Amino acid sequence: MSKIKSIGILTSGGDAPGMNAAIRSTTRAAIHNGMKVFGIRKGYEGMIDGDIIPLSSEDVSGVIQKGGTFLLTARSPRFRHYDGIKAGYEQLKKFGIDALVVLGGDGTFKGANELSDEFDIPIIGIPCTIDNDLYGTDYTIGFDTAVNTVVEAVDKIRDTASSHNRIFFVEVMGREAGFVAINSGIACGAEIIMVPEIQYDQLEKARKFLAERATKNKSSIILVAEGLKEGGAMDIAKILEPEFPQFDIRVSVLGHIQRGGSPSAKDRVIASRLGVAAIDALLDSQKCVMVGVAHDKIVQVPLNKTVKQHKSIDKDLICLSENIATYGPK
Ligand code: F6P
Repeated sequence: MSKIKSIGILTSGGDAPGMNAAIRSTTRAAIHNGMKVFGIRKGYEGMIDGDIIPLSSEDVSGVIQKGGTFLLTARSPRFRHYDGIKAGYEQLKKFGIDALVVLGGDGTFKGANELSDEFDIPIIGIPCTIDNDLYGTDYTIGFDTAVNTVVEAVDKIRDTASSHNRIFFVEVMGREAGFVAINSGIACGAEIIMVPEIQYDQLEKARKFLAERATKNKSSIILVAEGLKEGGAMDIAKILEPEFPQFDIRVSVLGHIQRGGSPSAKDRVIASRLGVAAIDALLDSQKCVMVGVAHDKIVQVPLNKTVKQHKSIDKDLICLSENIATYGPK
């Protein structure tokens, strides 16, 4: 039996499809191991305010298929300061919570690291963000669903683009990372994928493509990752439109639709595995780690490493996207 009697679970930062599935598996695994479970609402904000509710096995019934997070989430400016962290920790003590499981991305893990630096409480992180930009794990919960959402949307845009022979600039999320763009771009056959990880001038790449396209009279999808230093899809289209008056250009910013929806089977399975892995890590006396997936195996990575190190896109994937997007020899 574990020394840990009671855990708190919170979701923080941007919601991601599959968070509910992870809350469910964490709760059930904890209860199975004799622990009491508390849900902390609205992330670190709710922790500071003591917005904490008991969670039973029944409370997490019927949530596996639901997008968003039933525990609610927030980005917490108060938790970036010592006073907020201390207030949060005192609430945990008041409720008798002696370990935490936090679900979120790098902002969430930075908060968890700071809490762990200041106070002695075991914390396990479960990676949840559609951006898939956390070091130490091949996948983050929500990424697969978001990529599928983008593919579905771009397939639809493709129908209207080809009917009108238009060039579409489609912007997808990912903050400073191009994982969503590169994967969905390959999956929907985008002619150009513009991601921040590619070092050479992305605007020039699009310009060259359009110049070649001018003679072919074809519709095209240009997928733009939101974190591009050259600007978003609107900015890029504004620059290029006057240079190519022969094209009928449109812009579509997919936005928060990418964060919603029922999680894919893959996200539900990863979420179920990682929730159980989080409790295993606590039983294993881990203090401050993220549980993740590498080569389809569960791994434990120190939380401070996940926020300090950078996760890069596989270069082969970038090459692949460029080799199969256009036709003909080099
Ligand atoms: O981190 C997830 C994410 O959806 C990013 O892709 C995006 O840049 C950001 O969150 C948007 O945040 P908000 O919902 O606060 O506007």
